[in-house]
Amino acid sequence: MFRNMKIDIETVLDNDPAARSKFEVVFTYSGLHAIWAHRVAHWFYKRKWFTLARFISQVSRFFTGIEIHPGAVIGHRLFIDHGMGVVIGETCEIGDNVVIYQGVTLGGTGKEKGKRHPTIGNNVVIGSGSKVLGSFTVGDNVNIGSNAVVLREVPSNSTVVGNPGRVVKRNGERVGDRLDHTNLPDPVVEMLRDMQRQIDELKAELRREREQTRQERQEVRSL
Ligand SMILES: CC(C)(COP(=O)(O)OP(=O)(O)OC[C@H]1O[C@@H](n2cnc3c(N)ncnc32)[C@H](O)[C@@H]1OP(=O)(O)O)[C@@H](O)C(=O)NCCC(=O)NCCS
Repeated sequence: MFRNMKIDIETVLDNDPAARSKFEVVFTYSGLHAIWAHRVAHWFYKRKWFTLARFISQVSRFFTGIEIHPGAVIGHRLFIDHGMGVVIGETCEIGDNVVIYQGVTLGGTGKEKGKRHPTIGNNVVIGSGSKVLGSFTVGDNVNIGSNAVVLREVPSNSTVVGNPGRVVKRNGERVGDRLDHTNLPDPVVEMLRDMQRQIDELKAELRREREQTRQERQEVRSL
């Protein structure tokens, strides 16, 4: 147990450049407190002391703002940064070396029964505010962008962003036909350009008409 606690402290120091000392980490990192409380709650949950397990989880939620259901299975070296608003569901499974930021939900869609929460692979970063909803797998080495809403399986070695979440990078290569948002056509400018073109055409036609009238008048005078 103490070896695991030591690893948890080292995980914080490795992941957070702002963490200065073990002392500071132990006493001020609510993500760490939530993980430790979860270990105790999970121990009771596995022995079917469900209410006591839930009670520990809720006390931990009260102090840390992080709700981890006692049934959730979490791997080694999980780092919950800031943590406030994190919710991890009962049937969620989390691999090793995962980083979770504040406001993340690993939840269900409300439509499933039994296993209804996601399975997260190893070396996954789940950005702040993102929601991963449903009983699918998020592969290894996945980055989930802040505020993404992920509703289906994510292959390993990829980056998912947006709502609904879509894979924008796989094995380091950009994928999909995302629009080039910085070079989108501006409809107002396009319309003004079109009006300018029509005005130029009308001016040229008027000039031609005037020239023609002037020549006709000269011909009449010379007669
Ligand atoms: C997704 C993330 C992990 C970067 O992963 P990455 O694999 O390095 O991806 P890239 O930075 O190369 O971005 C790939 C594309 O996704 C876009 N993108 C990145 N993050 C995004 C997000 N959160 N929402 C929407 N689009 C995003 C990028 O603009 C880029 O688009 P482009 O290909 O059109 O230029 C990172 O952007 C992120 O969101 N991290 C979460 C950090 C966080 O929550 N911090 C809180 C600290 S308190």
